[in-house]
Amino acid sequence: MALYSEKVMDHFRNPRNVGVIADADAVGEVGNAKCGDIMKMYLKIQDDKIADVKFETFGCGSAIASSSMATELIKGQPLSQALKLTNQAVTEALDGLPAHKLHCSVLAEEAIKSAVKDYYDRHGIAYDPALFAGVEDCAHCGEGA
Ligand code: FES
Repeated sequence: MALYSEKVMDHFRNPRNVGVIADADAVGEVGNAKCGDIMKMYLKIQDDKIADVKFETFGCGSAIASSSMATELIKGQPLSQALKLTNQAVTEALDGLPAHKLHCSVLAEEAIKSAVKDYYDRHGIAYDPALFAGVEDCAHCGEGA
């Protein structure tokens, strides 16, 4: 069996929603302290829904495929729904990742959470900090910026 599924290869070769939203309503950035990979997620929000999303990933193929799939899964969704997106859901949508690459999909989940947190912070929207537990932005791990 091939190491990577066809879906992983497709999203790696033709990633969806790559780029920057210059007037984004929220930006999330996370880094993996071990491998040094960085993911940045831009959101445009309308009526509490993700009207547009783009990403930049400086990282491995699995991280690029994971970000691409994650953006497809949250586009058009309410913020509350996007917050529920797990790395397992991203991995399943990609028809799996090798075990040693599962952490790459975690980066996608955390980048979305980091962006939603940024939106809440910018708008003074109260939230349960537990929602964002474990989401380390690049300022914390020192790998970004
Ligand atoms: Fe770092 Fe994949 S090896 S995110």
